[in-house]
Amino acid sequence: MKIALVGGTGDIGTGLALRWAKSHEIVIGSRREEKAVESADKVLKALQGKAQITGVDNGSAIQAAEVVVLCVACEHLISVTSDLKSSYSGQIVVSPVVPMGFNGKHFDFKPPAEGSAAMQIKSLLPTETRIISAFHTISAAALQDLNSELAEDVLLCGDDQEALELVAGLAKEIRSLRPLKAGPLTASGMVESLTPMLLNVARRNKIKEPGIKIISWR
Ligand SMILES: NC(=O)c1ccc[n+]([C@@H]2O[C@H](COP(=O)([O-])OP(=O)(O)OC[C@H]3O[C@@H](n4cnc5c(N)ncnc54)[C@H](OP(=O)(O)O)[C@@H]3O)[C@@H](O)[C@H]2O)c1
Repeated sequence: MKIALVGGTGDIGTGLALRWAKSHEIVIGSRREEKAVESADKVLKALQGKAQITGVDNGSAIQAAEVVVLCVACEHLISVTSDLKSSYSGQIVVSPVVPMGFNGKHFDFKPPAEGSAAMQIKSLLPTETRIISAFHTISAAALQDLNSELAEDVLLCGDDQEALELVAGLAKEIRSLRPLKAGPLTASGMVESLTPMLLNVARRNKIKEPGIKIISWR
C-alpha cells in the first residue's frame, strides 16, 4: 500500500514510517520538500536500506497515496486538509490528532467546535472522504523504538467498514498492537480525550510511555 504521512517529519510520523516502511511504500510529507527528503533518508538508514520511502511536499504526498495519515497538531489541520483539498481524491484519511492543551496544572481535552479533531477533518475534506480516527494513545517514542513490544490497544472510530478493516490491519502489523473498534466517527471525541487523561496519570504516577489495554475478566 502507498501511505502518505502528512507532517511525517515529526514524532508520530517518524514512528509510523519506521514501523510500516518494510512492508509498504511510505511517502513522507512536509511543508518543505528538503525536510521530507532528509526525514525519509533517516528512516531508510535506520532500517538499513530495507524500505521503500520517499520525501515530498504534503500535497504531492497526499496525491501519491491510497492512505493518508494526518500527523500534525490540531491547530494545523486546515493547512493540510481544506488548503490542500485538490490533492484529495478518495484516499482513506487516518487521524491520530488529539486536540489538547496544558493549563499549567494538567493536560486538558480541547475539542474544536465540531466535537473532535476527526469530526473537524470530516467538515474540511470532500464529503466522500473515508476518515478513520486511530492511534491517539500510542506513544511516538514507543513506535520509534523498534525493539519495543507495544502490548496495548488501538481504538478506532469510523463509519466505513472497509476502511476500518484496512486501518485495523495496519495497526496489527505493528508488533503486539491490538486494534479495537470504538464506534462511529462521532464517537471519536471520547477516544481522543483519553490521551490527556493518560498523560495526567503518567505525570502523577511516574509512568513512562503509558498506553491503553482493555481487559476482560471472562
Ligand atoms: N507524539 C506522540 O506521541 C503522539 C501520539 C499520538 C497522537 N499524536 C498526534 O499526532 C499529531 C502529530 O504529533 P507529533 O508529536 O508527531 O507532532 P510534531 O512532531 O510536533 O509535528 C509534526 C509535524 O507538523 C508539521 N507542522 C508544524 N507546524 C505546522 C504548520 N503550521 N502547518 C502544517 N504543518 C506543521 C511539521 O512538519 P513540517 O515542518 O515538515 O511541515 C512537524 O514535523 C498530533 O495531532 C498529536 O496529537 C502524537
